[in-house]
Amino acid sequence: MSEKAYTDQPMHSENRRADTRYIEKDLATQCLHAGERWEKGEFWTSSTPIHNSTTYFYDSAQELDDRVYDRKAGYVYSRAGSPTSTALERALSTLEGAEVTHVCSSGMAASHLALLTAGAGRDELILCSSDVYGSVYTMVESIFPHLGGRSILMDFTDLDKLEHVIKRERPKVVYFEVVTNPMTKVIDAPAVIDMAHRYGATVIVDNTFTTPYLLKPIQIGADFVSHSVSKFLAGHGDVLAGSVSCYREGFDRLHDILIQVGCTLGPNQAWLALRGLKTFSLRMERHCANALAVAKFLESHPLIHEVRYIGLPSHPQHETARRIFGARPEGEPARYGAMLNFEIADCDKDKAFRFLDSLNLILPATTLGDIYSLIVYPARTTHHQLGQEELASIGISPGTFRMSVGIEHIEDLKEDLDQALKACQ
Ligand SMILES: Cc1ncc(COP(=O)(O)O)c(C=O)c1O
Repeated sequence: MSEKAYTDQPMHSENRRADTRYIEKDLATQCLHAGERWEKGEFWTSSTPIHNSTTYFYDSAQELDDRVYDRKAGYVYSRAGSPTSTALERALSTLEGAEVTHVCSSGMAASHLALLTAGAGRDELILCSSDVYGSVYTMVESIFPHLGGRSILMDFTDLDKLEHVIKRERPKVVYFEVVTNPMTKVIDAPAVIDMAHRYGATVIVDNTFTTPYLLKPIQIGADFVSHSVSKFLAGHGDVLAGSVSCYREGFDRLHDILIQVGCTLGPNQAWLALRGLKTFSLRMERHCANALAVAKFLESHPLIHEVRYIGLPSHPQHETARRIFGARPEGEPARYGAMLNFEIADCDKDKAFRFLDSLNLILPATTLGDIYSLIVYPARTTHHQLGQEELASIGISPGTFRMSVGIEHIEDLKEDLDQALKACQ
């Protein structure tokens, strides 16, 4: 390339920055307005239109050239983004308290991009929590070593052990989810971020489970935040999308890698995610209230061996969760998210399948964060890539189920769980 492609102030990051009009507003207000109605054309549109054009042109060759060389904000070719995806990016930057965000085609693409951007590659070590989403586990364990990198997957809840490994191995990248999947262990995110930085590592937090409703990892020092936007942020089980948010410094590399890999989020998917986001705060309020009620119900159920929900005082890391997710002002309900995990007593695979087949309302489906309640059997779905030993080492037994509690009426949820538990015996 004979000419420098980007100026010192590249517009591709300017474009995707947090929406300054709403930075100081409450999350509920940010969800509705951030990223929308950014520039007035001949008239305003209340929601950003779906811009399906693959390419863009301007009044003069010079105007196009200014966009190609990033001297002016705009669009050239939709693999680099569209006005619809930009609106979503501005909204997510605002919600996460990040400087800039890139959306992409899935949560897996987001994790992959974040790892590549943070420097994972030949001869570099990724230190990853062993309780991450199954496909991320497999990616870190197999893809990066195949490309000449190294990886260590370990339990991040023992901070002394973690520090010992970080000090000895000096990883390039540290990657974790704050509430683990599916065991709901709580990782002391502020302590891990601080520790990783002390030893020179770059930190990626996958905030899919916790969401900015519970935690904004960038604001406690994380370098990158990745999301499966397909989950709580979009919320309606009708879109596959991902995002990576970060500081301005990390963004150019992220942008370049995304364009070269080509895992762009299309305008239709971006629009669906943006529309879903409008009710994110409202949905989370109900998700959290329902999850606490379901957890209490299951904990007192005679056919249940164990319930793990970070909002229950019986959860081993309840106090850590209280500290990290912040005590709410007087009268405001606590925020512990929608994800819980339970174990049916004396359960083998056949009983587990009978339980799933007996559910009438709750969907036995392999995702999370939808408005609908969902139950998965991790050993045969999200974590099916893992062998028996690996499953046991992260606490997944033949009776373990993960539930993503939806926004249905709580009595209907209790009734469905109760009848399925009785029917599977
Ligand atoms: C925590 C977490 N991260 C990343 C992903 C991958 O997201 P996607 O399915 O959008 O690729 C998932 C998917 O379930 C997930 O649960």
